Amino acid sequence: MIWEGCGAPEVRAALPGCPELNGLGVWPPELRSRGIGGALIRRAEELAREHGRTVLGLGVAADNPRAADLYARLGYRRLTDYVGRWSYEDRDGVTRECVEHCTFLIKELPSGTLTEEPPSGPLDVKQP
Ligand SMILES: CC(C)(COP(=O)(O)OP(=O)(O)OC[C@H]1O[C@@H](n2cnc3c(N)ncnc32)[C@H](O)[C@@H]1OP(=O)(O)O)[C@@H](O)C(=O)NCCC(=O)NCCS
Repeated sequence: MIWEGCGAPEVRAALPGCPELNGLGVWPPELRSRGIGGALIRRAEELAREHGRTVLGLGVAADNPRAADLYARLGYRRLTDYVGRWSYEDRDGVTRECVEHCTFLIKELPSGTLTEEPPSGPLDVKQP
């Protein structure tokens, strides 16, 4: 979770401070389509609500329709398109710059008290 929101200026302008579920992935690929991704998203929504947030966002690349379908099924709607930029170090120690056309999706979260004790897990990251 990125509590301070997506770093892309297009997203910040459209909805400042919207917490972002970033870097979602289920590995190895054989474990996909078993409901794990959806369960992780629902847990992230609970976590956001526990922190008093009323909306959660996530970005999806333009060439990832399967993930986009999953998010749409879970109630996420387009906020804005943006250009995602990040870098990583490859096996040779060379820094690679990446640029990807993405759409930022948001879901309004229901207000009210959570009744179940949420499980702890890898999404239970600390706030900055
Ligand atoms: C996108 C991603 C995180 C989704 O995770 P997932 O665990 O496969 O997602 P889910 O299983 O919850 O839902 C996806 C599919 O399973 C189906 N499904 C959901 N619950 C299910 C269950 N209990 N039993 C069987 N199938 C189920 C859904 O209908 C959906 O169908 P699809 O395979 O035709 O798309 C995963 O595909 C992934 O890691 N992709 C590579 C990285 C990536 O693209 N990340 C997203 C970046 S934005």
